[in-house]
Amino acid sequence: EELKEKLKEYVNEVNMRKPGFIKVVRHSKQEGLIRSRVSGWRAATAPVVALFDAHVEFNVGWAEPVLMRIKENRKRVISPSFDNIKYDNFEIEEYPLSAQGFDWELWCRYLNPPKSWWKLENTTAPISSCRSPALIGCFIVDREYFQEIGLLDEGMEVYGGENVELGIRV
Ligand SMILES: *[C@@H]1O[C@H](CO)[C@@H](O)[C@H](O)[C@H]1NC(C)=O
Repeated sequence: EELKEKLKEYVNEVNMRKPGFIKVVRHSKQEGLIRSRVSGWRAATAPVVALFDAHVEFNVGWAEPVLMRIKENRKRVISPSFDNIKYDNFEIEEYPLSAQGFDWELWCRYLNPPKSWWKLENTTAPISSCRSPALIGCFIVDREYFQEIGLLDEGMEVYGGENVELGIRV
């Protein structure tokens, strides 16, 4: 209900104020997570692209620290920390800060940050010292760097492998 006519109206309204600000990419058939992420990337023109699941909401000030890390080094692929929005009352439940890894079935898992990170006593410091090659599949990347590493494998049909594949490519 919210996605068809109402979405179109909302996009038109925003684009009236800021021409070309929102682009909606539609597929003629269901393509799944990975091909959808890549087709969104193809439509993007900004120097940095954020690829997220549709059910993610963003909080105020989320972008600045992420853009800073990428400005320092364009080969960084960043995953911000996630909290939970409760579906029944929209309350925010804070999740512990964590790195991301995977188990033997390649399922994404949250990992406690390494001791070296805890020693910094700085909860805003990036958890980059964790020797994990995996990220949750929601990330921010330099648009051209993402192409240099070959994007994501568009042969993947469903969720679950991209978090590991991306790490290997990087
Ligand atoms: C904490 O980490 C952030 C991000 O690296 C840095 O900007 C900030 O200066 C650090 N704060 C302290 C008190 O070291």
